[in-house]
Amino acid sequence: MRILLASSEVYPYSKTGGLADMVGALGKALARKGHEVGIVTPLYAGVRKRFPTLTPLRQPLDLPLGTGLATAQVYCLRPAERLTIYFVDQPRFFERPGLYQENGRDYPDNAERFIFFSKAVAQLVLALPSKLDLLHLHDWQPGLAAVLLKDELKRAGQGSGPRICVTIHNLAFQGVFPADKFPLTNLPWDFFTPDGVEFYKQLNCLKAAMVYSDVITTVEIMTEELGCGLDGLLRKRHSALYGILNGVDYEEWNPMSDPALSSPFSVDDLGAKAANKLALQEEFNLPPRADIPLFGNVGRLAEQKGVDILLRALEETAELNFQFVLLGSGETRFEQAYEDLARRFPGRIAVKIGFDEALSHRIEAGSDFFLMPSRFEPCGLNQMYGLRYGAIPIVRTTGGLDDTVIDIKEDAEHANGIKFIEYSSKALAKGIRKALALYGEPPLLAYYRKNAMKADFSWERTTTEYLKVYQGNATADP
Ligand code: ADP
Ligand code: GLC
Repeated sequence: MRILLASSEVYPYSKTGGLADMVGALGKALARKGHEVGIVTPLYAGVRKRFPTLTPLRQPLDLPLGTGLATAQVYCLRPAERLTIYFVDQPRFFERPGLYQENGRDYPDNAERFIFFSKAVAQLVLALPSKLDLLHLHDWQPGLAAVLLKDELKRAGQGSGPRICVTIHNLAFQGVFPADKFPLTNLPWDFFTPDGVEFYKQLNCLKAAMVYSDVITTVEIMTEELGCGLDGLLRKRHSALYGILNGVDYEEWNPMSDPALSSPFSVDDLGAKAANKLALQEEFNLPPRADIPLFGNVGRLAEQKGVDILLRALEETAELNFQFVLLGSGETRFEQAYEDLARRFPGRIAVKIGFDEALSHRIEAGSDFFLMPSRFEPCGLNQMYGLRYGAIPIVRTTGGLDDTVIDIKEDAEHANGIKFIEYSSKALAKGIRKALALYGEPPLLAYYRKNAMKADFSWERTTTEYLKVYQGNATADP
Protein backbone atom coordinates (compact mmCIF):
# COMPACT_ATOMS: atom_id res chain seq x y z
CA MET A 1 0.00 0.00 0.00
CA ARG A 2 0.94 3.67 -0.33
CA ILE A 3 0.46 5.18 3.09
CA LEU A 4 0.94 8.70 4.45
CA LEU A 5 1.01 9.27 8.20
CA ALA A 6 0.49 12.81 9.49
CA SER A 7 1.59 13.86 12.96
CA SER A 8 2.70 17.00 14.79
CA GLU A 9 5.58 15.06 16.36
CA VAL A 10 7.71 12.17 15.15
CA TYR A 11 10.68 10.55 16.88
CA PRO A 12 13.63 11.15 16.32
CA TYR A 13 12.85 14.55 14.76
CA SER A 14 10.59 16.02 17.44
CA LYS A 15 9.01 14.74 20.63
CA THR A 16 7.04 15.80 23.66
CA GLY A 17 5.50 12.41 24.46
CA GLY A 18 4.42 8.98 23.32
CA LEU A 19 2.77 10.23 20.13
CA ALA A 20 6.21 10.85 18.62
CA ASP A 21 7.46 7.37 19.55
CA MET A 22 4.34 5.71 18.22
CA VAL A 23 4.27 7.44 14.83
CA GLY A 24 8.01 7.08 14.24
CA ALA A 25 7.83 3.37 15.04
CA LEU A 26 4.65 2.73 13.02
CA GLY A 27 6.20 4.34 9.94
CA LYS A 28 9.34 2.22 10.23
CA ALA A 29 7.40 -0.99 10.85
CA LEU A 30 5.07 -0.46 7.87
CA ALA A 31 7.99 0.26 5.54
CA ARG A 32 9.78 -2.86 6.80
CA LYS A 33 6.71 -4.86 5.84
CA GLY A 34 7.12 -3.68 2.24
CA HIS A 35 4.72 -0.73 2.12
CA GLU A 36 5.63 2.65 0.64
CA VAL A 37 5.35 5.01 3.61
CA GLY A 38 5.51 8.77 4.05
CA ILE A 39 5.27 10.73 7.30
CA VAL A 40 4.36 14.40 7.12
CA THR A 41 5.25 16.62 10.07
CA PRO A 42 6.25 20.25 10.73
CA LEU A 43 9.88 21.33 10.31
CA TYR A 44 10.60 22.58 13.81
CA ALA A 45 13.63 24.58 14.95
CA GLY A 46 16.86 22.61 14.91
CA VAL A 47 15.72 19.70 12.70
CA ARG A 48 17.55 20.97 9.62
CA LYS A 49 20.78 21.24 11.59
CA ARG A 50 20.51 17.70 12.96
CA PHE A 51 19.51 16.23 9.57
CA PRO A 52 21.50 18.21 6.99
CA THR A 53 20.54 16.01 4.02
CA LEU A 54 17.00 17.36 3.65
CA THR A 55 16.04 17.99 0.02
CA PRO A 56 13.23 20.32 -1.04
CA LEU A 57 10.23 19.19 -3.11
CA ARG A 58 10.31 21.02 -6.43
CA GLN A 59 7.04 22.91 -5.99
CA PRO A 60 6.26 24.71 -2.73
CA LEU A 61 2.61 24.54 -1.66
CA ASP A 62 0.84 27.90 -1.68
CA LEU A 63 -1.97 27.70 0.79
CA PRO A 64 -4.80 30.18 1.39
CA LEU A 65 -5.20 30.88 5.08
CA GLY A 66 -8.36 32.93 5.56
CA THR A 67 -7.81 36.15 3.70
CA GLY A 68 -4.05 35.64 3.63
CA LEU A 69 -1.68 33.24 1.96
CA ALA A 70 1.05 31.06 3.45
CA THR A 71 3.64 28.98 1.68
CA ALA A 72 4.69 25.52 2.77
CA GLN A 73 8.05 24.45 1.43
CA VAL A 74 8.26 20.70 1.85
CA TYR A 75 11.61 19.03 2.57
CA CYS A 76 12.19 15.28 2.24
CA LEU A 77 14.38 12.85 4.12
CA ARG A 78 14.76 9.12 3.37
CA PRO A 79 15.86 7.53 6.66
CA ALA A 80 15.16 3.98 5.48
CA GLU A 81 14.11 2.04 2.44
CA ARG A 82 10.50 2.83 1.43
CA LEU A 83 10.24 5.50 4.17
CA THR A 84 10.13 9.24 3.40
CA ILE A 85 9.70 12.00 5.96
CA TYR A 86 8.04 15.15 4.56
CA PHE A 87 8.83 18.21 6.66
CA VAL A 88 6.51 21.18 6.25
CA ASP A 89 8.57 24.34 6.52
CA GLN A 90 7.05 27.68 7.47
CA PRO A 91 9.39 29.50 9.87
CA ARG A 92 6.64 31.91 10.97
CA PHE A 93 4.79 28.98 12.54
CA PHE A 94 7.36 26.35 13.42
CA GLU A 95 10.76 27.98 14.01
CA ARG A 96 10.16 28.31 17.77
CA PRO A 97 11.61 26.90 21.01
CA GLY A 98 8.51 24.75 21.71
CA LEU A 99 6.21 22.53 19.68
CA TYR A 100 2.91 23.69 21.15
CA GLN A 101 3.82 26.02 23.99
CA GLU A 102 6.47 27.95 25.87
CA ASN A 103 6.79 28.41 29.66
CA GLY A 104 3.65 26.36 30.20
CA ARG A 105 1.53 28.58 27.91
CA ASP A 106 0.05 27.41 24.59
CA TYR A 107 1.08 29.54 21.63
CA PRO A 108 -1.82 31.95 20.99
CA ASP A 109 -1.77 31.17 17.26
CA ASN A 110 -2.05 27.38 17.55
CA ALA A 111 -5.26 27.47 15.50
CA GLU A 112 -3.44 29.19 12.61
CA ARG A 113 -0.40 26.91 12.97
CA PHE A 114 -2.27 23.64 12.80
CA ILE A 115 -4.94 24.71 10.32
CA PHE A 116 -1.96 25.59 8.14
CA PHE A 117 -0.37 22.20 8.84
CA SER A 118 -3.66 20.39 8.03
CA LYS A 119 -3.87 22.28 4.75
CA ALA A 120 -0.31 21.32 3.91
CA VAL A 121 -1.16 17.67 4.62
CA ALA A 122 -4.22 17.75 2.35
CA GLN A 123 -2.33 19.50 -0.45
CA LEU A 124 0.63 17.16 -0.16
CA VAL A 125 -1.71 14.20 -0.69
CA LEU A 126 -2.82 15.82 -3.96
CA ALA A 127 0.71 16.81 -4.99
CA LEU A 128 2.38 13.42 -4.48
CA PRO A 129 3.35 11.83 -7.80
CA SER A 130 1.66 8.48 -7.00
CA LYS A 131 -1.85 8.03 -5.74
CA LEU A 132 -2.15 7.28 -2.03
CA ASP A 133 -4.19 4.40 -0.69
CA LEU A 134 -4.35 5.54 2.86
CA LEU A 135 -3.98 8.76 4.85
CA HIS A 136 -3.49 8.19 8.59
CA LEU A 137 -4.00 11.25 10.81
CA HIS A 138 -2.80 11.30 14.43
CA ASP A 139 -4.54 13.39 17.10
CA TRP A 140 -6.10 16.80 16.54
CA GLN A 141 -3.23 18.71 14.96
CA PRO A 142 -3.60 17.38 11.37
CA GLY A 143 -7.31 16.58 12.01
CA LEU A 144 -8.81 19.14 9.64
CA ALA A 145 -6.96 17.53 6.73
CA ALA A 146 -9.78 14.92 6.58
CA VAL A 147 -12.46 17.47 5.76
CA LEU A 148 -10.17 19.73 3.71
CA LEU A 149 -9.14 16.85 1.47
CA LYS A 150 -12.68 15.53 1.04
CA ASP A 151 -13.95 19.00 0.19
CA GLU A 152 -11.14 19.65 -2.26
CA LEU A 153 -11.64 16.35 -4.09
CA LYS A 154 -15.39 16.88 -4.31
CA ARG A 155 -14.98 20.35 -5.75
CA ALA A 156 -12.42 19.14 -8.27
CA GLY A 157 -14.70 16.21 -9.19
CA GLN A 158 -11.74 13.94 -8.54
CA GLY A 159 -13.44 10.91 -6.98
CA SER A 160 -13.04 9.61 -3.51
CA GLY A 161 -9.29 9.93 -2.77
CA PRO A 162 -7.45 7.79 -0.23
CA ARG A 163 -9.19 6.05 2.63
CA ILE A 164 -8.69 8.15 5.78
CA CYS A 165 -7.96 6.80 9.25
CA VAL A 166 -7.60 8.87 12.41
CA THR A 167 -5.97 7.64 15.59
CA ILE A 168 -6.96 9.28 18.85
CA HIS A 169 -3.98 9.16 21.19
CA ASN A 170 -5.48 11.36 23.83
CA LEU A 171 -9.10 12.52 23.91
CA ALA A 172 -8.19 15.12 26.51
CA PHE A 173 -6.62 17.22 23.73
CA GLN A 174 -9.07 18.05 20.94
CA GLY A 175 -7.82 21.30 19.42
CA VAL A 176 -10.86 23.44 20.31
CA PHE A 177 -10.78 27.07 19.14
CA PRO A 178 -13.22 29.99 18.98
CA ALA A 179 -15.56 30.03 15.96
CA ASP A 180 -13.81 33.11 14.57
CA LYS A 181 -10.86 30.87 13.65
CA PHE A 182 -13.04 28.79 11.35
CA PRO A 183 -12.65 31.16 8.34
CA LEU A 184 -8.92 30.30 8.35
CA THR A 185 -9.95 26.92 6.95
CA ASN A 186 -11.53 28.61 3.88
CA LEU A 187 -14.27 25.98 4.11
CA PRO A 188 -17.88 27.03 3.53
CA TRP A 189 -19.86 27.69 6.73
CA ASP A 190 -22.02 24.62 5.86
CA PHE A 191 -19.33 22.57 7.62
CA PHE A 192 -19.70 24.54 10.85
CA THR A 193 -22.63 22.56 12.26
CA PRO A 194 -22.95 20.02 15.12
CA ASP A 195 -22.85 17.27 12.48
CA GLY A 196 -19.60 18.74 11.14
CA VAL A 197 -16.70 20.50 12.84
CA GLU A 198 -18.68 22.55 15.38
CA PHE A 199 -18.53 21.63 19.04
CA TYR A 200 -20.66 23.81 21.36
CA LYS A 201 -20.25 26.81 19.05
CA GLN A 202 -16.48 26.29 18.74
CA LEU A 203 -14.21 24.72 16.16
CA ASN A 204 -13.05 21.21 17.16
CA CYS A 205 -10.20 19.83 15.05
CA LEU A 206 -10.29 16.30 16.48
CA LYS A 207 -14.03 16.10 15.92
CA ALA A 208 -13.45 17.13 12.30
CA ALA A 209 -11.18 14.13 11.87
CA MET A 210 -13.62 11.81 13.64
CA VAL A 211 -16.55 12.91 11.48
CA TYR A 212 -14.79 12.90 8.11
CA SER A 213 -12.44 9.93 8.42
CA ASP A 214 -13.50 6.53 7.17
CA VAL A 215 -12.19 4.77 10.24
CA ILE A 216 -11.23 5.76 13.80
CA THR A 217 -8.79 4.00 16.12
CA THR A 218 -7.78 4.55 19.73
CA VAL A 219 -4.53 3.36 21.33
CA GLU A 220 -6.17 1.35 24.10
CA ILE A 221 -8.32 -1.70 23.93
CA MET A 222 -11.71 -0.05 24.14
CA THR A 223 -13.29 0.82 27.45
CA GLU A 224 -16.39 2.89 28.09
CA GLU A 225 -14.36 5.46 30.04
CA LEU A 226 -13.58 7.36 26.82
CA GLY A 227 -15.54 10.50 26.21
CA CYS A 228 -14.45 14.07 27.01
CA GLY A 229 -17.66 15.37 25.44
CA LEU A 230 -17.36 13.31 22.28
CA ASP A 231 -19.10 10.18 23.64
CA GLY A 232 -22.13 10.70 21.41
CA LEU A 233 -19.98 10.85 18.29
CA LEU A 234 -17.97 7.81 19.38
CA ARG A 235 -21.20 5.87 19.85
CA LYS A 236 -22.51 7.05 16.50
CA ARG A 237 -19.34 5.90 14.76
CA HIS A 238 -19.06 2.69 16.75
CA SER A 239 -18.99 0.45 13.68
CA ALA A 240 -15.91 2.33 12.37
CA LEU A 241 -14.07 2.37 15.71
CA TYR A 242 -11.20 0.05 16.72
CA GLY A 243 -8.84 -0.15 19.70
CA ILE A 244 -5.23 -1.03 18.89
CA LEU A 245 -2.59 -1.10 21.59
CA ASN A 246 0.74 0.58 20.71
CA GLY A 247 3.90 -1.45 20.33
CA VAL A 248 7.42 -0.74 21.54
CA ASP A 249 10.26 0.02 19.15
CA TYR A 250 12.72 -2.54 20.49
CA GLU A 251 15.47 -1.09 18.29
CA GLU A 252 15.32 2.11 20.34
CA TRP A 253 14.42 0.44 23.63
CA ASN A 254 16.79 -2.48 23.98
CA PRO A 255 18.86 -2.67 27.19
CA MET A 256 21.48 -4.76 25.38
CA SER A 257 22.29 -2.16 22.74
CA ASP A 258 21.10 1.15 24.18
CA PRO A 259 23.76 3.83 23.56
CA ALA A 260 22.47 5.83 26.53
CA LEU A 261 23.60 3.12 28.98
CA SER A 262 27.17 2.63 30.17
CA SER A 263 26.46 -1.00 31.14
CA PRO A 264 24.25 -2.89 28.69
CA PHE A 265 22.28 -5.76 30.23
CA SER A 266 19.84 -8.51 29.46
CA VAL A 267 17.51 -10.81 31.29
CA ASP A 268 20.36 -13.32 31.62
CA ASP A 269 22.82 -10.76 32.94
CA LEU A 270 21.13 -8.70 35.62
CA GLY A 271 24.43 -7.86 37.28
CA ALA A 272 24.82 -5.10 34.74
CA LYS A 273 21.40 -3.74 35.66
CA ALA A 274 22.79 -3.23 39.16
CA ALA A 275 25.65 -1.19 37.64
CA ASN A 276 23.10 1.03 35.92
CA LYS A 277 21.39 1.57 39.25
CA LEU A 278 24.59 2.76 40.92
CA ALA A 279 25.35 5.03 37.96
CA LEU A 280 21.86 6.51 38.15
CA GLN A 281 22.12 7.13 41.90
CA GLU A 282 25.39 8.93 41.25
CA GLU A 283 23.93 10.95 38.38
CA PHE A 284 21.19 12.14 40.74
CA ASN A 285 23.57 12.72 43.68
CA LEU A 286 21.92 10.02 45.77
CA PRO A 287 23.95 7.64 47.95
CA PRO A 288 25.02 4.83 45.58
CA ARG A 289 23.56 1.90 47.51
CA ALA A 290 22.58 -1.40 45.92
CA ASP A 291 20.52 -2.42 48.94
CA ILE A 292 18.10 0.54 48.85
CA PRO A 293 15.22 0.12 46.41
CA LEU A 294 15.11 2.83 43.75
CA PHE A 295 11.83 4.06 42.23
CA GLY A 296 11.78 6.05 38.98
CA ASN A 297 9.30 8.21 37.14
CA VAL A 298 9.56 9.99 33.78
CA GLY A 299 6.85 12.01 32.17
CA ARG A 300 4.86 15.08 31.39
CA LEU A 301 3.96 16.81 34.63
CA ALA A 302 0.24 17.05 33.96
CA GLU A 303 -2.85 16.06 35.89
CA GLN A 304 -3.32 13.03 33.62
CA LYS A 305 -0.18 11.45 35.05
CA GLY A 306 -1.36 11.34 38.66
CA VAL A 307 1.18 13.89 39.89
CA ASP A 308 -1.00 14.97 42.82
CA ILE A 309 -1.32 11.48 44.31
CA LEU A 310 2.33 10.69 43.70
CA LEU A 311 3.46 13.84 45.52
CA ARG A 312 1.23 12.97 48.47
CA ALA A 313 2.19 9.28 48.49
CA LEU A 314 5.87 10.25 48.64
CA GLU A 315 5.14 12.34 51.74
CA GLU A 316 3.07 9.57 53.29
CA THR A 317 5.86 7.05 52.85
CA ALA A 318 8.61 9.37 54.07
CA GLU A 319 9.57 7.02 56.91
CA LEU A 320 10.25 4.10 54.56
CA ASN A 321 13.63 3.17 53.22
CA PHE A 322 13.72 3.85 49.47
CA GLN A 323 14.99 6.38 46.95
CA PHE A 324 13.01 8.16 44.24
CA VAL A 325 14.19 9.87 41.04
CA LEU A 326 12.09 11.88 38.64
CA LEU A 327 12.64 13.40 35.20
CA GLY A 328 9.79 15.55 33.98
CA SER A 329 8.54 18.88 32.78
CA GLY A 330 5.16 20.50 32.43
CA GLU A 331 2.93 22.53 34.73
CA THR A 332 4.97 24.95 36.82
CA ARG A 333 3.06 24.14 40.04
CA PHE A 334 4.06 20.48 39.72
CA GLU A 335 7.67 21.25 38.81
CA GLN A 336 7.94 23.41 41.92
CA ALA A 337 6.25 20.83 44.16
CA TYR A 338 8.77 18.18 43.12
CA GLU A 339 11.69 20.53 43.59
CA ASP A 340 10.39 21.36 47.09
CA LEU A 341 10.12 17.68 47.91
CA ALA A 342 13.68 17.04 46.76
CA ARG A 343 14.90 19.91 48.96
CA ARG A 344 13.05 18.47 51.96
CA PHE A 345 14.28 14.90 51.47
CA PRO A 346 17.88 15.19 50.28
CA GLY A 347 19.59 11.87 49.70
CA ARG A 348 16.20 10.18 49.25
CA ILE A 349 14.34 12.12 46.56
CA ALA A 350 16.03 13.72 43.56
CA VAL A 351 14.44 15.42 40.55
CA LYS A 352 15.53 16.82 37.20
CA ILE A 353 13.15 19.22 35.53
CA GLY A 354 13.53 19.20 31.76
CA PHE A 355 13.33 16.92 28.74
CA ASP A 356 16.22 14.51 28.25
CA GLU A 357 15.81 11.47 26.00
CA ALA A 358 19.01 9.68 27.09
CA LEU A 359 18.35 10.22 30.78
CA SER A 360 14.85 8.77 30.37
CA HIS A 361 16.50 5.54 29.15
CA ARG A 362 18.94 5.54 32.08
CA ILE A 363 16.08 5.92 34.56
CA GLU A 364 14.30 2.88 33.10
CA ALA A 365 17.58 0.96 33.22
CA GLY A 366 18.63 1.97 36.73
CA SER A 367 15.30 1.87 38.58
CA ASP A 368 14.06 -1.16 40.45
CA PHE A 369 10.47 0.05 40.10
CA PHE A 370 8.79 2.43 37.65
CA LEU A 371 5.88 4.48 39.01
CA MET A 372 2.95 5.31 36.75
CA PRO A 373 -0.07 6.26 38.84
CA SER A 374 -2.00 7.92 35.98
CA ARG A 375 -5.48 9.32 36.47
CA PHE A 376 -6.12 8.12 32.91
CA GLU A 377 -3.75 6.64 30.33
CA PRO A 378 -4.96 5.80 26.82
CA CYS A 379 -1.99 3.50 26.21
CA GLY A 380 1.18 4.55 27.97
CA LEU A 381 4.59 3.59 26.66
CA ASN A 382 6.76 4.23 29.70
CA GLN A 383 5.42 1.23 31.62
CA MET A 384 6.24 -0.97 28.61
CA TYR A 385 9.75 0.51 28.49
CA GLY A 386 9.99 -0.18 32.24
CA LEU A 387 9.06 -3.82 31.66
CA ARG A 388 11.76 -4.29 29.03
CA TYR A 389 14.38 -2.61 31.25
CA GLY A 390 13.44 -4.68 34.29
CA ALA A 391 11.98 -1.74 36.23
CA ILE A 392 8.87 -3.34 37.71
CA PRO A 393 5.94 -1.05 36.89
CA ILE A 394 3.61 0.13 39.64
CA VAL A 395 0.49 1.31 37.82
CA ARG A 396 -3.08 2.30 38.35
CA THR A 397 -5.62 0.10 36.59
CA THR A 398 -6.58 2.49 33.82
CA GLY A 399 -6.50 2.26 30.00
CA GLY A 400 -3.33 0.81 28.54
CA LEU A 401 -1.70 0.46 31.96
CA ASP A 402 -4.28 -2.13 32.90
CA ASP A 403 -3.92 -3.85 29.52
CA THR A 404 -0.14 -4.23 29.62
CA VAL A 405 0.86 -4.95 33.23
CA ILE A 406 0.06 -8.19 35.09
CA ASP A 407 -0.48 -8.19 38.85
CA ILE A 408 0.11 -11.30 40.93
CA LYS A 409 -3.59 -11.34 41.81
CA GLU A 410 -4.51 -11.70 38.13
CA ASP A 411 -1.95 -14.29 37.15
CA ALA A 412 0.72 -15.44 39.60
CA GLU A 413 2.73 -17.28 36.95
CA HIS A 414 3.10 -14.26 34.66
CA ALA A 415 3.10 -11.47 37.27
CA ASN A 416 5.34 -8.60 36.17
CA GLY A 417 4.05 -5.54 38.00
CA ILE A 418 1.99 -4.09 40.84
CA LYS A 419 -1.45 -2.62 40.25
CA PHE A 420 -3.75 -0.48 42.36
CA ILE A 421 -7.29 0.53 41.54
CA GLU A 422 -8.42 3.56 43.51
CA TYR A 423 -7.16 6.97 42.44
CA SER A 424 -5.72 7.98 45.81
CA SER A 425 -2.35 8.54 47.44
CA LYS A 426 -3.28 5.87 49.98
CA ALA A 427 -3.78 3.19 47.34
CA LEU A 428 -0.56 4.24 45.62
CA ALA A 429 1.37 4.22 48.93
CA LYS A 430 0.09 0.68 49.46
CA GLY A 431 1.51 -0.19 46.04
CA ILE A 432 4.86 1.25 47.11
CA ARG A 433 4.78 -0.85 50.30
CA LYS A 434 4.03 -3.96 48.25
CA ALA A 435 7.05 -3.12 46.09
CA LEU A 436 9.26 -2.84 49.17
CA ALA A 437 8.02 -6.25 50.35
CA LEU A 438 8.82 -7.68 46.93
CA TYR A 439 12.29 -6.13 47.09
CA GLY A 440 12.79 -7.99 50.36
CA GLU A 441 12.31 -11.32 48.58
CA PRO A 442 15.11 -11.49 46.00
CA PRO A 443 14.03 -14.75 44.31
CA LEU A 444 10.49 -13.45 43.78
CA LEU A 445 11.83 -10.10 42.58
CA ALA A 446 14.06 -11.91 40.08
CA TYR A 447 11.03 -13.91 38.91
CA TYR A 448 9.01 -10.70 38.33
CA ARG A 449 11.93 -9.14 36.53
CA LYS A 450 12.28 -12.09 34.22
CA ASN A 451 8.58 -12.00 33.37
CA ALA A 452 8.77 -8.24 32.84
CA MET A 453 11.77 -8.33 30.53
CA LYS A 454 10.26 -11.13 28.49
CA ALA A 455 6.88 -9.42 27.93
CA ASP A 456 6.57 -8.79 24.21
CA PHE A 457 4.89 -5.68 22.82
CA SER A 458 6.67 -5.71 19.49
CA TRP A 459 5.33 -3.73 16.55
CA GLU A 460 4.68 -6.84 14.52
CA ARG A 461 1.24 -7.39 16.10
CA THR A 462 0.33 -3.70 16.14
CA THR A 463 1.27 -3.21 12.49
CA THR A 464 -0.78 -6.23 11.41
CA GLU A 465 -3.80 -4.78 13.20
CA TYR A 466 -3.34 -1.38 11.54
CA LEU A 467 -3.03 -2.99 8.12
CA LYS A 468 -6.33 -4.78 8.66
CA VAL A 469 -7.95 -1.47 9.54
CA TYR A 470 -6.33 0.24 6.53
CA GLN A 471 -7.61 -2.47 4.21
CA GLY A 472 -11.08 -2.57 5.72
CA ASN A 473 -10.63 -6.14 6.99
CA ALA A 474 -10.73 -5.52 10.72
CA THR A 475 -13.61 -6.76 12.79
CA ALA A 476 -15.17 -4.15 15.07
CA ASP A 477 -14.91 -4.41 18.83
CA PRO A 478 -18.00 -5.87 20.47
P1 ADP B 1 2.36 10.48 27.01
O1 ADP B 1 2.39 10.30 25.56
O2 ADP B 1 0.99 10.65 27.58
O3 ADP B 1 3.26 11.58 27.48
P2 ADP B 1 3.65 7.85 27.12
O4 ADP B 1 4.00 6.97 28.26
O5 ADP B 1 2.89 7.24 26.02
O6 ADP B 1 2.92 9.13 27.71
O7 ADP B 1 4.98 8.40 26.44
C1 ADP B 1 5.82 9.31 27.01
C2 ADP B 1 7.12 9.35 26.23
O8 ADP B 1 7.71 10.62 26.41
C3 ADP B 1 8.13 8.33 26.69
O9 ADP B 1 8.99 8.00 25.62
C4 ADP B 1 8.88 9.13 27.75
O10 ADP B 1 10.14 8.62 28.04
C5 ADP B 1 8.94 10.47 27.10
N1 ADP B 1 9.11 11.57 28.04
C6 ADP B 1 8.14 12.22 28.74
N2 ADP B 1 8.67 13.20 29.48
C7 ADP B 1 10.00 13.17 29.24
C8 ADP B 1 11.10 13.96 29.72
N3 ADP B 1 10.93 14.96 30.59
N4 ADP B 1 12.34 13.66 29.24
C9 ADP B 1 12.51 12.64 28.36
N5 ADP B 1 11.52 11.87 27.89
C10 ADP B 1 10.28 12.14 28.32
C1 GLC C 1 -0.89 9.92 24.35
C2 GLC C 1 -1.36 9.17 25.59
C3 GLC C 1 -0.49 7.99 25.93
C4 GLC C 1 -0.14 7.19 24.68
C5 GLC C 1 0.49 8.10 23.64
C6 GLC C 1 0.89 7.37 22.36
O1 GLC C 1 0.05 10.88 24.63
O2 GLC C 1 -1.44 10.03 26.71
O3 GLC C 1 -1.16 7.15 26.87
O4 GLC C 1 0.75 6.15 25.01
O5 GLC C 1 -0.43 9.09 23.29
O6 GLC C 1 -0.19 6.74 21.73
